[in-house]
Amino acid sequence: MHPDEVRQKYLEFFRKQQHAVLPSAPLVPENDPTTLFTGSGMQPMITYLLGAPHPKGSRIVDSQRCFRSQDIEEVGDNRHTTYFEMLGNWSLGDYFKQEQLRWVFTFLTKELKLDPQKLFVTVFSGSKKLNISYDQESVEIWQGLFAEAGCSTGVVKQPEKEGMTKDGRIFFFDEKKNWWSRAGIPDNMPVGEPGGPDSEVFYDFGVTLQLHESSPFAAEPCHVNCDCGRFLEIGNSVFMQYQKQADGSFSELPQMNVDFGGGLERLAAAAINDPDVFTTELFIPIISELETMSGVLYKQDEKSRYAFRVIADHVRAAVMLASDGVYPANKEQGYFVRRLLRRAIRYAHDLGINKPFLSQLVPVVAKIYANAYPQVSEQAEKIQAALVLEEQKFQKVLEKGLRHFSSLKEVDGESAFRLYETYGFPFELTQELAQERGQTLDAAAFDKARQAHAVASRTASAGKFRGGLQDTSEIATRYHTATHLLHAELRNLLGKAVQQKGSNITDKRLRFDFSFDRALTESEISKVLAQINEWVTADLPVTKKIQKKEVALKSGALAFFSEQYPDEVSVYTIGGEQDWISRELCGGPHVTHTSEIGQLQFIKQQAVAAGVRRIYLQVESP
Ligand code: ALA
Repeated sequence: MHPDEVRQKYLEFFRKQQHAVLPSAPLVPENDPTTLFTGSGMQPMITYLLGAPHPKGSRIVDSQRCFRSQDIEEVGDNRHTTYFEMLGNWSLGDYFKQEQLRWVFTFLTKELKLDPQKLFVTVFSGSKKLNISYDQESVEIWQGLFAEAGCSTGVVKQPEKEGMTKDGRIFFFDEKKNWWSRAGIPDNMPVGEPGGPDSEVFYDFGVTLQLHESSPFAAEPCHVNCDCGRFLEIGNSVFMQYQKQADGSFSELPQMNVDFGGGLERLAAAAINDPDVFTTELFIPIISELETMSGVLYKQDEKSRYAFRVIADHVRAAVMLASDGVYPANKEQGYFVRRLLRRAIRYAHDLGINKPFLSQLVPVVAKIYANAYPQVSEQAEKIQAALVLEEQKFQKVLEKGLRHFSSLKEVDGESAFRLYETYGFPFELTQELAQERGQTLDAAAFDKARQAHAVASRTASAGKFRGGLQDTSEIATRYHTATHLLHAELRNLLGKAVQQKGSNITDKRLRFDFSFDRALTESEISKVLAQINEWVTADLPVTKKIQKKEVALKSGALAFFSEQYPDEVSVYTIGGEQDWISRELCGGPHVTHTSEIGQLQFIKQQAVAAGVRRIYLQVESP
């Protein structure tokens, strides 16, 4: 079964259960400064899980493209990828466990035709500390479903001790395994973050494929959450019903939600009964191309296979990120694209590929997604050009850098910094090279050297979940609305060629990137400021409307990433219904009247890239 079919069947199955089918949101979350990338299907759904009504109703299904930068180092085994698609369905205070678990089971066994005997599940064992009891209801539902399918229904209360018992089917795990939130376990959740217990489904690839006895876990009993390679998690139903409180306890959200996520790559692997996600059609075309280029076979040996996987994952991820507007750069999202590409180039050397190869893979990736994401093909040439440039830059320094590296006796923070500064080696690359020589190099030593050289810190916290829902905090909300004002006035003053290219908000300032080909003059800046502040003083109303996309666009609303908006959108208007000054498609949140923003001050302007300018503003009294 082709992965396109897996995706299609899933969307169709839930559409039949009255779910609205939504397009994937962009890989870079809009208006959410707390995280660099969309790392899970629920990322774009947060406000709705917290209770805001969704314009499409209370049942949603989609296939969300995701990128998990924190998994870069994990790639190389048969299951980890940085980019992936998450098939997701949501109940926003609608159905709950009964419907959800039955639908998941039916989809897996009837639509994907997975053998129910090969499915095993986990449920939340309860937590005294959290004052939440074990999930009896899910246990009973699963027992009913497995019994109907003629499977055993045994409950294993202590899997880590008992292992796979003779009739074990339903396994208990505590909040370390069976709890989900964007920040992970309950202790790590910031105040306000939603989360809840979950129930996961595992696919059994069989003991003969990879013997537990030869794995690093041989000393302990094998069970569904064992990492020996026998089982693969293919789906997770999160019962998103709690919210973290200031005192660390959890209270119930106003509505009981379901957040289901199933990795497309993994489901596709289960559908062909091969535990290696890189043998699915989401990767095979890339791997085949690499085989042709290198003359090495994927099946040859473990070391080559590792290199194939890293290259295939990283190039695919970089292409998908670029198709969402993220190009190689030295910081923030762009830094990860650079790091992915540089790692791919480095691993290509392991396969004997020593000449430029990245751009050749772009059409291969585009073809894999020709049906699902035609925007990749549409941008293929532009992406190729960027990759060629990046490769030229890095190839030049890579060989010199590798030579320099081999001349080093000891790799310390100072030499890692030199490799970084002079040869453009991401720290992680030097660290990996050191590891291959049996030396260790810690990030603290590198940071120390870097600070000593007084280089501005680049992405120390990039990619980490920075916690909280600051995006809905009062100050961020004020900055969101201020961003719309800034955008509107820039277009008034400089013309309609000004288009938003990016926006980022912290509690200290707003940052706005837009297309324009020169610096603004001082007088232009004062004009912009004067106008925005006049609008603030005028206390204009800010109103939200849910509309059909076409209607919104017709009425003059500005939109970006237009191909990815759902067909019903929320539109924010500032000013009167007829004499508005700003109208944009936007998820919010916004203030209700512009005076709530307060007077704005100019901080600075910069060039970001050719034809893209950046402006920073702050409020006078935060
Ligand atoms: N949000 C849940 C996950 O990512 C479904 O596993």
